[in-house]
Amino acid sequence: MSQPLSVTPGFDLWPGLLELELQQALVSSVLAAAEVAPFARYETPQGKPMSAAMTAFGPLGWVSDRAGYRYADQHPESGQPWPQMPQALLHLWARLGDAETPPDSCLVNLYRGDARMGLHQDRDEADPRFPVLSVSLGDTAVFRIGGTRRKDPTRSLRLNSGDVCRLSGPARLAFHGVDRILPGSSSLVPGGGRINLTLRRAR
Ligand code: SIN
Ligand code: FE2
Repeated sequence: MSQPLSVTPGFDLWPGLLELELQQALVSSVLAAAEVAPFARYETPQGKPMSAAMTAFGPLGWVSDRAGYRYADQHPESGQPWPQMPQALLHLWARLGDAETPPDSCLVNLYRGDARMGLHQDRDEADPRFPVLSVSLGDTAVFRIGGTRRKDPTRSLRLNSGDVCRLSGPARLAFHGVDRILPGSSSLVPGGGRINLTLRRAR
């Protein structure tokens, strides 16, 4: 496997790691999953609807509402378990995430139009020794990453379809977000937009 680019200590990027066929297969898996676990725009605890729509694969899915952020073992609207994690994602995690412990959650974000994601830390997981592994599909994202304090300087980079990145070690709790996507930069996702998959060990 190619060597990653170390963007900042603990933040590694593998540009174009996933070949087109795998990107297409993952989009198909997401669309099939969304039939049983529909994309939803969750509210923040403050009652603001998020601009990215979300669903999940695996035993646990990340959800948000006025009661707060948490991992849940079922879809909040259907009450059904989340769809199974695609094998390809389990393999990717075994290579780049953790060889012994599988991920128990994959958050699926869909960005269309002017959807974005404000700077935040991923800190709802029980053990930050496990990395977060992120797969980008479809339109390019203008991604921002800083340090572990909100006020730390940030840098901006583009995440293209097929790119994989990892937050681990000193970057595991780094602030990060998506400033915007570049609509029309990819034709991978039917109807346009960007899908981001983040693999995590939540519990
Ligand atoms: C996230 O932080 O949950 C998503 C990041 C991304 O969409 O690239
Ligand atoms: Fe995040």
